[in-house]
Amino acid sequence: MVKIAVLGYGTVGSGVVEVLNTNHDSIAKKAGEAIDVKYVLDLRDFPGDPIQEKIIHDYNIILNDDEVRIVVEVMGGEEPACTFVKQALMAGKHVATSNKALVASHGAELVAIAREHNVNFMFEASVGGGIPIIRPLLASLTADEIEEITGILNGTTNYVLTKMGEDGLEYEDVLKKAQEKGYAERNPAADVEGYDACRKIAILASLAYGHQVDYEDIYTEGITKITEKDFLYAKKLGVAIKLLATCSRSGEKVFAMVSPMMIGQDHPLYNVSGVFNAIFVRGNMLGDAMFYGRGAGKLPTASAVVADVVEEVRHMNTNIRLTWNPEKLHLADMKEASH
Ligand code: HSE
Repeated sequence: MVKIAVLGYGTVGSGVVEVLNTNHDSIAKKAGEAIDVKYVLDLRDFPGDPIQEKIIHDYNIILNDDEVRIVVEVMGGEEPACTFVKQALMAGKHVATSNKALVASHGAELVAIAREHNVNFMFEASVGGGIPIIRPLLASLTADEIEEITGILNGTTNYVLTKMGEDGLEYEDVLKKAQEKGYAERNPAADVEGYDACRKIAILASLAYGHQVDYEDIYTEGITKITEKDFLYAKKLGVAIKLLATCSRSGEKVFAMVSPMMIGQDHPLYNVSGVFNAIFVRGNMLGDAMFYGRGAGKLPTASAVVADVVEEVRHMNTNIRLTWNPEKLHLADMKEASH
């Protein structure tokens, strides 16, 4: 049994606990052993909630407990998350995080510290919520030169633009709904001004090109200047307005920007609606590929975090890379399913 600690019991933190409880047995099979949450670090108490017995307020308890092999950082924001993650890696603990602000600012440094201490620093959930994109970039697309990545990387703004464009709803009402659904950042400017998408494309560009791309260098414009008139105009033209985050390479030059753009019906990102995100990747050998799914929300994001934890447990146990048991799985009769 592997013991882990979760830092932050907000939307994603509670999702991580729920995913681990709901899929406990199948996760144990895939990881090679069961995964158990020993501590949840939060400033708050949760009286009456079963999680309360795991709640602690002092991070040193986690750092000093050798039984805790993996730390899940889902607090968000740069500090104290960065200090906590560094301390965990230096104490020889693996870390999985969903924190794009942390990864965009300190990713390269944290990867180096992890390597030095022979542990993993994993961050699949930091871009695209539940969509696998970090690992595909690092593991499956290594034969290619990445020519372009263009994504709808922020669920909140895509939800707002979809509802305003299709249903003619008011900006404030839609944004409120996105916040209620747990998609939006605590500070809505991070979503609507494009800062969140900016950090995510900075992470993808850094991984695609193997060098740190500073998010501060990326031209970023959000959706706050879009008016009803723009939607009417877009409707007339038969195009959609999307907040796109893009990076591309031409020779030695890498370009990156975040901006609302009009896209035509022939573009694969045209139909990406609501909270869904999609990441379009063009490789010089592969050609075009697209990754699509839920880009925000409790369980999709937690699913990606827990997948990183599973990978870390496998790493600890060596050689369990794939669960593909040769014993035959008996499929249910389709006729039964239709009744
Ligand atoms: N606020 C973010 C979004 C959450 O709306 O996409 C996921 O990073």
